Amino acid sequence: MRHGLGAIPRPLAFPILLVGALAAAQSSSSIQRPTWRDLVPIQSYLARHGVSSDTLHDVIDRTHAKNAARVREGDLDHLVFYALQSTRFTTRPPIEPALSAKALVESLHPEAHAAFLTGPSIPDVPVPAAVRSRIAELVTYLGPQRSDERAAFFRQLVHTAFPAARGREAALAREYVRVMRFLYRKEFLAPATARGTSDVHDLYRERGLSTDTAIEAGFVVHTGLAVLQALEPTRRVRRVLVVGPGLDLAPRTGLLDDASPQSYQPWAVMDALVSLGLSQLGDLSIVAADINPRVVDHLRRARGSPPALRLASALGVSDTVVMSPDYLDYFTRLGRTIGSETRGAGLRKVIQVSVDSARALVPAETLDIVTERLGGPGFDLVVATNIFPYFNDLELALAMSNIAAMTRPGGVVLHNEGRAVLGEITTDLGLPFEQARYVTIATIRGATAPLADSVFLHRKVTTR
Ligand SMILES: C[S@@+](CC[C@H](N)C(=O)[O-])C[C@H]1O[C@@H](n2cnc3c(N)ncnc32)[C@H](O)[C@@H]1O
Repeated sequence: MRHGLGAIPRPLAFPILLVGALAAAQSSSSIQRPTWRDLVPIQSYLARHGVSSDTLHDVIDRTHAKNAARVREGDLDHLVFYALQSTRFTTRPPIEPALSAKALVESLHPEAHAAFLTGPSIPDVPVPAAVRSRIAELVTYLGPQRSDERAAFFRQLVHTAFPAARGREAALAREYVRVMRFLYRKEFLAPATARGTSDVHDLYRERGLSTDTAIEAGFVVHTGLAVLQALEPTRRVRRVLVVGPGLDLAPRTGLLDDASPQSYQPWAVMDALVSLGLSQLGDLSIVAADINPRVVDHLRRARGSPPALRLASALGVSDTVVMSPDYLDYFTRLGRTIGSETRGAGLRKVIQVSVDSARALVPAETLDIVTERLGGPGFDLVVATNIFPYFNDLELALAMSNIAAMTRPGGVVLHNEGRAVLGEITTDLGLPFEQARYVTIATIRGATAPLADSVFLHRKVTTR
């Protein structure tokens, strides 16, 4: 998980989106749920957390349904960020979501304030006029079919989640209020408590599943792979699994909706492997697996139609942000082995992915890593960044056991989550910690710590 400046990364109550049905219907690998016997290495950990052979099935079922609900909630979070920031459907100025949350909460009467933030349900509160106008314009805009991928997705989401046209604006206003409550708790309330970051972490374990992604995650993975290459210059990586690759549909800040949404991570991993000499394009297959069918569907299309990746640092360039030399070097080289580059101003460029590179991306899979695993041959490398913060300890233990089962003996797992439970269970799973690196991305003038991340490398033992 990224840290510094409080920069923490960022359901089946309604019919699953059509796009999801499409991706699921095309799924090629066998997807399996773990049995109690599969979980022998962590049975005692599970038992300490109240899971037994009798209850495992129910726990997996409930978690799967909860995660599906969190996908829906995450999609609706992105819809609210789109409604506030997009300039596609309105000439009104964008509204910064966290500032909108602050203004909304501060407009409440002190008693309503406490009930709003801590009550079990979300009370009706007045939605500002500027937000209501944007919502009304968005609903009108999403009436007809839209050709850009972002608007087409949101149209489908709105029409599926709120089928009755007459109730759409009110439903979206309720979603706005729900998202503002979460944002206020995360940005203003939790950091000010004695537990601070821990409270923010707790919020992440219950929130909707965001698909946000940024190229800084690629820098972390590149650093981990460079360590691997330095330790074993002759190692070759052929089969790779990227868990939770993400899609930059409508982030909480800095929405750029002049470009189509992108999923960078599979391409960034491919580029890192080839540039470090760990892989060759013709001999590499990368499987991306994500719980969100929208991400899977996007990547399946990208395989057939190689994207022009518009790369821009999420940090932007400013007088207060000083990128580390290593990060600048990473950004300069990023993408050169997988396509042709066009430089833009500052930290911006476009990589047109080549057909050969796109061939290395095999059809993506819809997978809940907490409750499912892929059958078939093991992977040489599994990458999972900025996904574990969404899981509580039990879910993380289940996810790691699925990852361990999919990693071939001698294979490597890279992630950026430094949590105690991983130290507790990964040795038992035959996937001990081997290396860790602290990665500085930038320094920020006036901040107490740099913007940084960590990368952890585990290797699957060969004698089990
Ligand atoms: C915050 S994004 C991170 C994207 C990317 N890995 C990165 O570091 O930029 C988390 C991704 O994990 C996916 N995800 C969340 N829970 C998941 C689960 N249980 N199984 C598989 N994917 C999941 C989300 O849909 C999303 O695409």
